[in-house]
Amino acid sequence: MAVNVAVVGATGAVGDLIRKVLHERNFPAKTIKFLASERSAGKPIEYGGKQYIVEAIRPEAFVGMQIVLSSTPSNISKEFSPIAAKQGAIVVDNSSAWRMDPDCPLVVPEVNADELKNIKKGIVANPNCVAIPLCVALKPLHDIAKIKRIIVSTYQSSSGKGATGLVDFEQQLGSWMKGEKVTPTAHRGQLAGNVITLDWTLDPNGYTEEENKVVNETRKILGDATLAVSPTCVRVPVRIAHSESINVEFERPISVEEAKAALAKAPGVILMDEFKGEFPQPIHAAGQDHTFVGRVRKDHGCPNALNLWVVADNLRKGAATNAVQVAEELVRRGIVG
Ligand SMILES: NC(=O)c1ccc[n+]([C@@H]2O[C@H](COP(=O)([O-])OP(=O)(O)OC[C@H]3O[C@@H](n4cnc5c(N)ncnc54)[C@H](OP(=O)(O)O)[C@@H]3O)[C@@H](O)[C@H]2O)c1
Repeated sequence: MAVNVAVVGATGAVGDLIRKVLHERNFPAKTIKFLASERSAGKPIEYGGKQYIVEAIRPEAFVGMQIVLSSTPSNISKEFSPIAAKQGAIVVDNSSAWRMDPDCPLVVPEVNADELKNIKKGIVANPNCVAIPLCVALKPLHDIAKIKRIIVSTYQSSSGKGATGLVDFEQQLGSWMKGEKVTPTAHRGQLAGNVITLDWTLDPNGYTEEENKVVNETRKILGDATLAVSPTCVRVPVRIAHSESINVEFERPISVEEAKAALAKAPGVILMDEFKGEFPQPIHAAGQDHTFVGRVRKDHGCPNALNLWVVADNLRKGAATNAVQVAEELVRRGIVG
């Protein structure tokens, strides 16, 4: 069944990829339109070999839309996603505005697609770009040996800050390579030749807002409100794809072989074999839709724990691809259309 689709925030880093992913996956769009801010209204944009004109976001733009894929800043999403939903669309929202709302499912299709049975507000939230690959990689292990505790340290790329993050990083690199003064414009400090652990707002609890998202969203997606999650989020000088070093403790001992067997058949996962010289890297994950898992090994200090290394494209599986997969699931299940 083909449906009427609106892509909101179409000119941003995530929105641009949503447009590409919809086309790549041959999404059944009866009609499609592209919305952004007043700044972008009137700009030409290409989809499936045809030219479209970007429209400014306004309530009337959602009339007749069945699926809205929204990737705007949170404040815009808070204002416009309910307007689109009120007019009958199901909104798949990439911002953090709706993720912890108990009436909005937070969905990673490989992990908890059945949550789509409970859409109360017409909004499905797309999770944070660290939480998505974390849950894709850990769900198959959680299913066989119930997770007790997760310690995750991230290595997050510049594009996690959107199009402006990438421009900033590239300008910083240019200045740094020439030995000139580096002036950050989107990141909260120098990223060229450096790593930053305070590239997000610091909350009064001493964690960043990104770290709090990882805790809360991982618990919601894995369906365990008391799961112990201990994150440290770090921005690294990489353009695209976030990496995660994960230490995971289970309720019972689990062998590397058992974990690898579960990961090898898990949906959305590509398991890499370090003994064949393979290991997940951002340069390979960038532009890909899978979650790459490798370096699976015993934690010698804790009998029930394993270490693993996970990499995924933050703009694709961490945002655009996951949102399009949710939209596909909405059509497949007859929730829209
Ligand atoms: N980057 C990631 O890795 C990632 C991953 C997961 C989720 N997200 C979330 O996805 C959302 C978009 O992120 P992004 O990285 O794509 O950001 P971005 O590159 O800055 O793009 C933002 C988009 O929102 C539009 N926008 C901004 N202000 C607007 C307004 N007042 N009215 C209407 N549209 C407006 C922009 O349109 P103009 O071009 O016209 O300004 C642009 O299309 C954010 O909520 C972000 O937290 C990002």
